[in-house]
Amino acid sequence: ISGANGFHSKLPSAIVTLNATEGSPVYTAGQELSQGIDGIFGKKLALGTSLARGNGKGKGNGKDTATATVGTVHAYVDSNPNAAAGLPELDDDGFYLSVSRGEVLILGQNERGALYGAFHYLSLLAQGNCSDFKLTSNPNAPIRWVNQWDNMQDGGTHGSVERGYGGKSIFFWDGAVRPDLTRAGRYARILASIGINAVVVNNVNADPKTLTPANMDGLARIADVFRPYGVQLAVALNFASPQTLGGLSTFDPLVPEVVAWWQGIADELYKRIPDMAGYLVKANSEGQPGPMTYNRTLADGANMFAHTLKPHGGIILFRAFVYNSQTLNQTLDWKADRANAAVHYFDGLDDKFDDNVVIQVKYGPIDFQVREPVSPLFTHLVKTGATIELQVTQEYLGQQAHLVYLAPMWKEILDFDFRVDDKRSTTADIVSGRRFPRKLGGYAGVVNVGTNTTWLGSHLAMSNLYAYGKMVWDPTSDPEALLREWTALTFSADKKVLDVITTMSMQSWPAYENYTGNLGIQTLTDILLGHYGPNPASQDGNPWGQWTRADGFSIGMDRTVWNGTGFAGQYPPAIAALYESPATTPDNLLLWFHHVPYTYRLHSGKTVIQHFYDAHYAGSAVAQTFPALWRSLKGRIDAERYEHVLNRLVYQAGHALVWRDSVNTFYHAKSGIADEKGRVGSH
Ligand code: GCU
Repeated sequence: ISGANGFHSKLPSAIVTLNATEGSPVYTAGQELSQGIDGIFGKKLALGTSLARGNGKGKGNGKDTATATVGTVHAYVDSNPNAAAGLPELDDDGFYLSVSRGEVLILGQNERGALYGAFHYLSLLAQGNCSDFKLTSNPNAPIRWVNQWDNMQDGGTHGSVERGYGGKSIFFWDGAVRPDLTRAGRYARILASIGINAVVVNNVNADPKTLTPANMDGLARIADVFRPYGVQLAVALNFASPQTLGGLSTFDPLVPEVVAWWQGIADELYKRIPDMAGYLVKANSEGQPGPMTYNRTLADGANMFAHTLKPHGGIILFRAFVYNSQTLNQTLDWKADRANAAVHYFDGLDDKFDDNVVIQVKYGPIDFQVREPVSPLFTHLVKTGATIELQVTQEYLGQQAHLVYLAPMWKEILDFDFRVDDKRSTTADIVSGRRFPRKLGGYAGVVNVGTNTTWLGSHLAMSNLYAYGKMVWDPTSDPEALLREWTALTFSADKKVLDVITTMSMQSWPAYENYTGNLGIQTLTDILLGHYGPNPASQDGNPWGQWTRADGFSIGMDRTVWNGTGFAGQYPPAIAALYESPATTPDNLLLWFHHVPYTYRLHSGKTVIQHFYDAHYAGSAVAQTFPALWRSLKGRIDAERYEHVLNRLVYQAGHALVWRDSVNTFYHAKSGIADEKGRVGSH
């Protein structure tokens, strides 16, 4: 902060934590405030635990006597009963922050909330804001989790992360929990600073060996390094574990021995980790076992875990990503559609789930594509809580080698209005439990950080993790404002730096959509292997049901009710009607819902094929501007990060051309239709 000395009179000179025991989030808050204020301003503050100095009243005289008091509302009111009347009501994890001439009061509804308040205060200071204010902040939803897809062991490559582009697992190595968990503790600190309260530490494609006694001990060590930051641990389970690990002859969720086996696991886990958040389960999906293996319903499966967690206060997030890739046959069946699967499997179960079951639904019905309509399953779960699964790791979105700032996409998804019963029903209001009153719900972000010093594999990709935390705390957040905040905190508050990173980032998702797959056709990437790089040919005939049905004349999935897979009919009537007809479907989802000739005219007036050609040129042209924009920051960013980002952006500019030419050439060959501007296939 330039001119930091001028701020000194507006800063507290002592920190008091209320009822903080060592290692508790309030204790951590005290440490963070002390380190943070020293780090930003070079001012060393006395750090004490006496309650007496913490009444926050009458000391704001601007002299060096002001105190930052941090603790729970409860602890504060205990010793200042008269103060209760002036304090706002807070939700779980919420905080109240009051700053007045250096006198700072940071109160959390719980300990975690107090820590969030401390981080918020520090963030404002780091952005140069030392003004007086009062703020009450409550999270949008109780579940604000991240998922790591970390393998305990993966063939020859130990400790790998599925769809992780930032190195090896920070938790696991060689089939066990790492001896040194320093980095896991650092991760918890990052997450707490953006309001995240739990981490599922292992892959949804879960290894049954996660639950050996030695590994449960290891999980407890991870929970120990998370705890000071108010971050809880959760575990992903393999449904067949009673058989594969426990040696039972079955894993049928209705067989008493199986239930008893899982109860034993829950008891063992909670003995070691009394504050464990719960479980995440991927069942009957992509070859994973599940209750349907025994003709039991998904509710039978989820409730089995719910019962075993109930005495311990845990919850189970049960994934809606249920489909059977083996049964999908594109050639024979015009109506086959993987997008239909989730609603198909969950319909009729809404009132069957226990109250500690939450259904975790990917934002789109297929799989983290650059553009998907929001999953209609959100409107079929009225009594059951839901979380929306977003992906911070850029699986289909450039794998951190491309700059793609995702917050604008998430904003569109969270703001989408399903018009249930013709009333405003946004995704955010549904998952937060506001639209259909429910206690549990919220957000899960697949993050997949690793051992790479940049965490995600690229310095700029961290804006996505920052925005994820901030948006799930407050979905009304403005993506651009978040980006500026993040840039100021991460790189510099220099106007030029802010402007360049904002310009590039805000253009990046639309550009990526343009050069990788527009009009709702999906990311035209390689479906069978890495989900990276162009391969439009792999989009059809694959067993995964990610199809475009492109032939010589026409393209797109007919998902109408009248003639197609019927998927459009899974939405509430007003939205279903919109998607049923090409005339009312937005251009950016046209090929998601309709099979049309390449010569079909969009609302824009262009034909589909000409739009393809033009969009791929336009998107890649935007990526071409990124290296020069970044070079204009030379000298304003430290050399290491400057070079790292520049390398990525130069690569992206080149790879965008590969995308453009591969996709355009493919559809030119397929359709035989010339580019009006003579660019494609002219040589
Ligand atoms: C995608 C992803 C897999 C992952 C799966 C899931 O298909 O490519 O790696 O396991 O989603 O979310 O379960």
